[in-house]
Amino acid sequence: MEFRTIIEPFRIHSVEPLKMTTVEGRRAALRAAGFNLFGLHSDDVLIDLLTDSGTGAMSRDQWAGIQRGDESYAGSPSWFRFLESVQELFPFRHVIPTHQGRAAEKILFGVIGGAGKIVPNNTHFDTTRANVEATGAEAVDLVIAEGLDPSALHPFKGNMDLAALESLLRSRAADVPVVFVTVTNNSGGGQPVSLENLRGVRALCDQYATPLFLDACRFAENAWFIKEREPGNEDRSVREIVQEMAALAHGMTMSAKKDGLANIGGWLALDDDAIAEQCRNLLILTEGFPTYGGLAGRDLEAIAQGLREVVDHDYLRYRVRSTGYLGDALVAAGVPVVRPIGGHAVYIDARALLPHLDPLEYPGQSLAVALYETGGIRACEIGTVMFGKHPDGSEHAAPLDLVRLAIPRRTYTQSHIDYVIEVCIDVASRAAELPGYRIVEQPKTLRHFTARFEPVA
Ligand code: F0G
Repeated sequence: MEFRTIIEPFRIHSVEPLKMTTVEGRRAALRAAGFNLFGLHSDDVLIDLLTDSGTGAMSRDQWAGIQRGDESYAGSPSWFRFLESVQELFPFRHVIPTHQGRAAEKILFGVIGGAGKIVPNNTHFDTTRANVEATGAEAVDLVIAEGLDPSALHPFKGNMDLAALESLLRSRAADVPVVFVTVTNNSGGGQPVSLENLRGVRALCDQYATPLFLDACRFAENAWFIKEREPGNEDRSVREIVQEMAALAHGMTMSAKKDGLANIGGWLALDDDAIAEQCRNLLILTEGFPTYGGLAGRDLEAIAQGLREVVDHDYLRYRVRSTGYLGDALVAAGVPVVRPIGGHAVYIDARALLPHLDPLEYPGQSLAVALYETGGIRACEIGTVMFGKHPDGSEHAAPLDLVRLAIPRRTYTQSHIDYVIEVCIDVASRAAELPGYRIVEQPKTLRHFTARFEPVA
């Protein structure tokens, strides 16, 4: 590259207005929402970094696909375009469309899970864990030690701990219906998994006759990191790297709301005929006929086109670099963040930034509220609010108190991100004044979505 500046590899074709809000207005909105950012009207959010899931902008060609969508109940041409696009990257024999990733998880674990089973993963995403546990099975996270240390610099912090996996398989292989690897490792900071590690996992799976599945939500970002960081891959295309990732697995679950570049959708894909048949039977109960799953024909078209665009090198260079741009600016300003910077999000270490607060005063919540109050930025607490409450009613500090700034795909420009940087630095400079929070109302499970809070005086 001749020039240093990496520009958005697109120009804007249709715009959505952002409502400018005031600090007073945002304070009132916070009070009405019980200081829970999930309770805000999204109109009152200026820059929405709550999630990168389903929040991206579609391309001209995806919108054209929407028009072409064929809504035939069975055997629609939109289904065949979707199937071809999925199988070009992931040539599994069976592709089962679902309305989003967790529906694929529910169907798969409904067939292969159950009491007494144990499912290893580098780190389960929360819906994946919940779907494993809902069947009575146990979910275990076996990410490498560096993956749990927010400041350890390792190029593939999402890697599976092969020794831990081997020891689990040695003692319990008969109870392990599948080994999962999440690419990139969302719950661990959006960190990638190397091809070498995937090969190692596959070798263990072969040795113990256990299938390997990918939770492939952010497969293209993972492949880009492999191209950039794993020796021997620098001259390969991302498409080729993705195909190798797929070839190492026996199946996958996918949320097309991430690297499908779509607003809804997902799938389950696998080679095993008998399991696929059982999954299709469950699909019909809750999602729909096997050629549309939970989706409209037009959604299948948007995903088919999205999968072609997401492996484009100019797109991925911009995508990973623009997330890194935000992260690097925060590092330079001394704001503690999980490093290296992941593909889809920057994670601020709220416990490190707000050391005056006990984890049970929710430093992540405090920081997320302050980012919204100060600049209208909505981020997501990933810490003691999300993970601190246990089924027996007890409450403990989560391992980390993070605030995730997730970047929607192709949605915000560099000046939006420059604004985010400015607000984060301003809030960080006042970190010592930020109050703790207490919970005044909460449901029994998944409290982070609906709990109401109050600042501690
Ligand atoms: N697996 C991973 C790694 C995820 O990040 C998600 C969703 C899912 C599975 C479930 O997919 O939402 O389509 O049902 N992650 C979103 C997030 C919600 O904000 O990180 P879904």
